[in-house]
Amino acid sequence: MLPKLFFVISTLISSFIFTTHSYNTQCLHHQKILLLQLKDELSFNSSLSTKLVRWNERDECCKWHGVECDVAGYVVSLQLDNESISGGIADSSSLFRLVHLQKLNLAYNYFNNTPIPKGIHNLTYLTHLNLSDAGFGGQVPAEISSLRRLVSLDISSDYIFVKLEMLVRNLTGLRELYLDDVNVNSSHERRKWSHIISSYLPNLTALSLSGCGLSGPLAKSFWQLHSLSILRLDYNNLGPELPDLFANFPTLTTLSLSNCSLKGSIPSTFANLTNLIRLDLSDNSFSGNIPHSLFALPSLLELDLSYNQFNGTFQLDKFLSLANLTLLDLSHNRLSVDVGNLNSTSYGNLQLKGLGLASCNLSHFPNFIKYLDMEYLDLSYNRIGGEIPSWIWGTQLRDLDLSYNLLTDLQKPYHIPASLRDIFLQSNQLKGELHLPIPSASQLSYLFLANNSLSGSIPTSLCSATSLYVLDLSGNRLSGSIPPCLLENISELDLSQNNISGSIPDNFPMDRCWLEYLDLNNNTLEGKIPKSLERCEQLRFMNVGNNNITDSFPCMLSSTWLRVLVLHSNRFHGEVRCQNMSWPSLQILDISSNQFSGNLESINFSSWKTMMLQSDVQLRYGNSNFYNSQLWISLSITLIMKGTNSEYHTIWPEFGIIDFSCNNFGGEIPNAIGDLTSLHQLNFSHNALNGSIPNSFGQLRNLESLDLSVNRLIGPIPVELAGLTFLQVLNLSYNKLVGEIPNGRQFQTFSADSFKGNAGLCGFNLNISCSDSDDSDHLSPEEDENGEEKREIEWEYVSSALGYVVGVGSIAWTLLCRRSFRERYFEKIEEIVDKIFYERARRRRHERRRRRVEMRNEVRRQQRR
Ligand SMILES: *[C@@H]1O[C@H](CO)[C@@H](O)[C@H](O)[C@H]1NC(C)=O
Ligand SMILES: *[C@@H]1O[C@H](CO)[C@@H](O)[C@H](O)[C@H]1NC(C)=O
Ligand SMILES: *[C@@H]1O[C@H](CO)[C@@H](O)[C@H](O)[C@H]1NC(C)=O
Ligand SMILES: *[C@@H]1O[C@H](CO)[C@@H](O)[C@H](O)[C@H]1NC(C)=O
Ligand SMILES: *[C@@H]1O[C@H](CO)[C@@H](O)[C@H](O)[C@H]1NC(C)=O
Ligand SMILES: *[C@@H]1O[C@H](CO)[C@@H](O)[C@H](O)[C@H]1NC(C)=O
Ligand SMILES: *[C@@H]1O[C@H](CO)[C@@H](O)[C@H](O)[C@H]1NC(C)=O
Ligand SMILES: *[C@@H]1O[C@H](CO)[C@@H](O)[C@H](O)[C@H]1NC(C)=O
Ligand SMILES: *[C@@H]1O[C@H](CO)[C@@H](O)[C@H](O)[C@H]1NC(C)=O
Ligand SMILES: *[C@@H]1O[C@H](CO)[C@@H](O)[C@H](O)[C@H]1NC(C)=O
Ligand SMILES: *[C@@H]1O[C@H](CO)[C@@H](O)[C@H](O)[C@H]1NC(C)=O
Repeated sequence: MLPKLFFVISTLISSFIFTTHSYNTQCLHHQKILLLQLKDELSFNSSLSTKLVRWNERDECCKWHGVECDVAGYVVSLQLDNESISGGIADSSSLFRLVHLQKLNLAYNYFNNTPIPKGIHNLTYLTHLNLSDAGFGGQVPAEISSLRRLVSLDISSDYIFVKLEMLVRNLTGLRELYLDDVNVNSSHERRKWSHIISSYLPNLTALSLSGCGLSGPLAKSFWQLHSLSILRLDYNNLGPELPDLFANFPTLTTLSLSNCSLKGSIPSTFANLTNLIRLDLSDNSFSGNIPHSLFALPSLLELDLSYNQFNGTFQLDKFLSLANLTLLDLSHNRLSVDVGNLNSTSYGNLQLKGLGLASCNLSHFPNFIKYLDMEYLDLSYNRIGGEIPSWIWGTQLRDLDLSYNLLTDLQKPYHIPASLRDIFLQSNQLKGELHLPIPSASQLSYLFLANNSLSGSIPTSLCSATSLYVLDLSGNRLSGSIPPCLLENISELDLSQNNISGSIPDNFPMDRCWLEYLDLNNNTLEGKIPKSLERCEQLRFMNVGNNNITDSFPCMLSSTWLRVLVLHSNRFHGEVRCQNMSWPSLQILDISSNQFSGNLESINFSSWKTMMLQSDVQLRYGNSNFYNSQLWISLSITLIMKGTNSEYHTIWPEFGIIDFSCNNFGGEIPNAIGDLTSLHQLNFSHNALNGSIPNSFGQLRNLESLDLSVNRLIGPIPVELAGLTFLQVLNLSYNKLVGEIPNGRQFQTFSADSFKGNAGLCGFNLNISCSDSDDSDHLSPEEDENGEEKREIEWEYVSSALGYVVGVGSIAWTLLCRRSFRERYFEKIEEIVDKIFYERARRRRHERRRRRVEMRNEVRRQQRR
C-alpha cells in the first residue's frame, strides 16, 4: 500500500515543481555577503531559531541550513520558515538582492502585521513563494502579481487582504494556490471567486481557500478544473446543495468541505473519485444514508463525516474493508452504528489509528479496537455501560473520550500510556476511589472526570502529571483535602460540588503561577484564601462560593484579568475595600450571603471599567429598540468567534452582575453605580443601606434585574427607573420609600410584591391611589418623624414575620439567605458564567480538533516513511 501513496505524492511533486538540486558548489562571495547581511537585518529569537542562528561565516554558505544554490553558486532557495523572525523586512533588504531565488519560504514567523514588502518584485525568478502565517498583514501588494513565474503561492493568513482577480490575473502559471483565512476585499469577488479562479487558472492542481468568507454556488467553469488534486474550501458558505458534478476529477486526492453550509445527500459522482485519499465533509447538514459508493473508494485514508445529519443504521464493517483507512469519524450524526461481530482475523490488516463514533447509539465497546493500536478514540455520547476494558488504553493512545456514557468502573489492571494527553470520562457513573497511575514522562494535559460518583480523596499521583493543564473533578463525592502539589502546574482546576474539606493550600508557585480558572464552589473548605494566590496574575475566574471560608475580602487577588469572583455563602467579613484594587476586567462579583460590612461609598466602583459600556460597542449593535439579551448574547458570541486569539477582556464587554445581598452593608448607594452601564443584574438586598435610590440608576440601560429589598432606603423611587426598558425583575420591597410609583410601560408589569413593605408608596401597582395619601406628603417635621418611626416599626414587624430580626446577627441573615430565593438566583449566575465561559468550551473543542489534525499529520508522516 505504501508505494501507491508514495507514487501519488511523488507525481504530485514532480509534475509541476521546477526541480532545484542542491549541488556542492562553492558559495559565491557576494551571495554569502548578502546572506550574512540578511541575517543581520532580521530580528529573530536565537533560542528558537534552528537555521539562521547557525549561519556562520566560516562555513560554505550553500550548505547553510535553509539555503540551496544552483550549479553556478547562486542562492536559489531560502527556507526560513518557523524561525521566530519578528519585526518586518524593508524593501531595501538584502533579501531582494538575491535575485536568483526561485523558492522563498518565510512561513510561520512573526512579521507583526507589517505589509508584504514590495521589494519582492525584484525576485523575478520566484516559482515558489510561501508566506503562510508569516505574520504579514494588510493588502497583498500588486508586486506579487508581477512574479509571472510563480507556480506555487501560499499566503494563508488571517491578517492578509486580497483583491483576488488582480492577484491571479497575470499569474497564469500558478498550479498551487493557498489563501486560507485571507480576507477577500470585495463582496462581489466573494461571490464570483469560483469564476475568477477557473477563468485565469484552469490548470490548478491545488486550491485551498478555507475560511475566506466565500459563497456559493460554484460557477459552471469551476467544474472544468479537472487537474485538481487538492481542493480545500472549508469554512465558507457554499450551500445549500453540492452539485452532482464530480465525475471528471480523476486526480482528486483531497477534498475538504468542512463547515460549508451544505445539505442534501452526498453526490453519487463521488463514486468516480477513485483516487480520493482524504475526504472531509464534517460540520455540514448532509442527510440520508451514508452511500455505499463511499465504501468503494479504495484509497481512502481519512474519512470525516462527523457533525452532519446522516441517519439510519450503519454497518461499520463496510468501512473496515477499506484496508488503508487510518481515520474514520462518524460522530454526531443520527446514526445507529452496528459495530459488527466479526472475528479477530478479519481485522488483521486494519490500519485504523483514529476512530470517532460519538453519539452513534453504541451499547458496548467495539471489540475490534482490541486488535488495533489507536491514537484517537471518541466513543462519547453513547449508552456504553459496565467496565472500561483494560485494552482500551492501548500503547499509543493520545486522545480518549468516553464521556456521556453509563460506565461504572475501570477494569484492572490498566496502564495509562505516557502518550495519552486527553482523557474525557465525565458524565458517567464511575464509582469508588479514584486511582490513576500516572506513568513517568506522561503527557497528560486534560483530565475530565466530572459528574461521576467517585469517592475517596484526590490522589496525589495526579501531581506526577506535570503537563496537566486542566483538571475537572467537579460533581463527585470526593472528600479529604486538596493535595498541595496539585496547585503547582495547573491552569484550570474545577473541584466544585464535592465534599472537599480543609483549607485551600497556600501553595501557588512562587515563580510562575499558571492558574487561570479556579472553581471550588460547594465544598466544605474552611480557613482563609491563600496568600500565594497573589502570584496568579493570569487568574480570570474564581469561585469559592458555598464553603465555610472565614476571611476578610481577598484584596491580594492582583490579577488584572479577573472577570468573575464569587465568594457567595461563606464567612467573609469586614470591609470590601482594598488599597490599590482596580479590577479593570471584573464583570461578575458575587459576595452575597457573607458578613461583609462597611459603607458602600468606600468602594471604588468607578474603577470597574469593564462594567462601563463603551459607546462604540453600542453604536455597532445600535438601536436599543432591537435589543434583547438573547440577541446580545449571540452577538457577543460572534465577537468571541471573530477574535480567535484575543484575550478575554476584549470579549463580552457588555455583561455585568453585582450581588452584595445578605450582608451588613450600610451607608448610601453611591451615584457611581449608575456608570456601570453594562450591569444586567444588581442585587443589594438584605443589607442596611440608607439614603435614597440614586437617579443615576436611570443610566443602567441594560439592567434586567434590580433587587434593593429589605434595606432602609428612603425617599421616592426615581422616575428615571421607568426608562429601564429591559427591567424584568424589580424588588424594592421592605424599605422606607415614599411617594408615587413611577408610571411607565415596564413599571406597570410589576406586581405589588415589588413594592410591598414601604408604607409611604402609592400608585397603580399597590392599588393605592396617591391622592388619598396626599396628606403624608405635607407632614410637619414632627409628624414626619413620627411617620418615619411608625414605618420603621412596621418594617421591623414585617421583617420578623419573615423569620429573622434585623440586627440580631448576620448568621441569621445568612441562614435565611442561603435557603429560599437565594438558590434560584445563584443558579442563574452559574448559567451566565457558563455562557461567558462558552469561550472556554469552544477553545477546548478547538484544541481537540487541532490535536486531531496533528494526529492526522503524524499518521501522514508515518505513511510516507
Ligand atoms: C493502500 O495503500 C497502499 C500503499 O499506499 C497501496 O499500495 C494500496 O494499493 C492501497 N490499497 C488500496 C485498496 O488502495
Ligand atoms: C526566545 O524564546 C525563549 C523560549 O521560548 C523565551 O524564553 C525568550 O524570552 C525569547 N526571547 C525573546 C527576546 O523573545
Ligand atoms: C508553507 O510552509 C509551511 C511551513 O513550512 C508548510 O506547512 C506549508 O505546507 C507550506 N505551503 C505550501 C503550499 O507548501
Ligand atoms: C498584468 O499584465 C499586464 C500586461 O502585461 C499589465 O499591463 C498589468 O499591469 C499586469 N497586472 C498586474 C496586476 O500586474
Ligand atoms: C493549461 O493546460 C493546457 C493543456 O496542457 C494548455 O494548453 C493551456 O495553455 C494551459 N493554460 C494555462 C493558463 O496555463
Ligand atoms: C463514473 O462512474 C460511473 C459508474 O462507475 C461510470 O459509469 C462512469 O463512466 C464514470 N465516469 C467517469 C467520467 O469516469
Ligand atoms: C460552522 O462554523 C460556525 C462558525 O464559523 C459555527 O457557528 C457553526 O456551528 C459551524 N457549523 C457546524 C455545523 O458546526
Ligand atoms: C432519514 O431521514 C430522512 C429525511 O432526511 C427520512 O425520510 C428517513 O425516514 C430517515 N430514515 C431513518 C431510518 O430514520
Ligand atoms: C439504538 O439501538 C437500539 C438497539 O441497540 C435500537 O433498538 C434503537 O432503535 C436505536 N436507536 C436509534 C435512535 O436508532
Ligand atoms: C451542592 O452540592 C450538593 C451535592 O453535592 C447538591 O445537592 C447541592 O444542590 C449543591 N448546592 C449548590 C448551591 O450548588
Ligand atoms: C499602591 O500603589 C502605590 C503606587 O501605585 C504603591 O506605592 C503602594 O505601595 C501600593 N500599595 C499597596 C498596599 O499595594
